[in-house]
Amino acid sequence: MQRVLFVCLGNICRSPTAQGVFQRLVEEAGLEGQIEVESAGTSAYHIGQPPDSRSIATASARGYDLSSIRAQQVIEADFLHYDLLLAMDGENLRALQQMAPVQHRNKVELFLNYGSCNRHEVPDPYYGGENGFEEVVDLVEDAARGLLNKLRDTQ
Ligand code: 4NP
Repeated sequence: MQRVLFVCLGNICRSPTAQGVFQRLVEEAGLEGQIEVESAGTSAYHIGQPPDSRSIATASARGYDLSSIRAQQVIEADFLHYDLLLAMDGENLRALQQMAPVQHRNKVELFLNYGSCNRHEVPDPYYGGENGFEEVVDLVEDAARGLLNKLRDTQ
C-alpha cells in the first residue's frame, strides 16, 4: 500500500480537489487497494467542514465528487502513516517541513513536482474569482497524472 496526503491551508479548496481528482484516477487504474488517498490542511480554520461550494461545483462539472470530504488538520502521526505528503504551495511546504520529524522530512514535497507545466504552486483560489477554481482543477489534473505514473513505476 502506498499512502498519499494532499495538503493545503484550509483543506476546503485545493487539497480536497486533489484528493477527488487523484482518487478517481486511482479507481480508473484499478489501484484502489494499493493507493490510499487523503487530504488535510496545515490550519485549523475549517476543521469538520465540507469543501468550499465553489470547489464542489467546479469539480462536479468536471466529473469529480468532493461532497463527502470533511476538512481535517495535519497531525504529527500523518508523517508516519503517509509515504508522501504533497503541499499545494511553498508556504504549506515549509509548514510541513517544520512539523515533520527529521527522519520523515523526505516524504514532504510540492505536488506540482509531478506536473508537466513548469508551475510550482497551485494558487490559493479562496479570495479570487471562479477562474481560480478552474485553474486549480487544471493544475491538479496534470500533476495527478504524473503522480499516478510515478507510483505505478515504483510498485
Ligand atoms: P485552501 O484555500 O487552502 O485551498 O483550502 C483556503 C481556504 C480557506 C482559507 C485560505 C485558503 N482561509 O483563510 O480561511
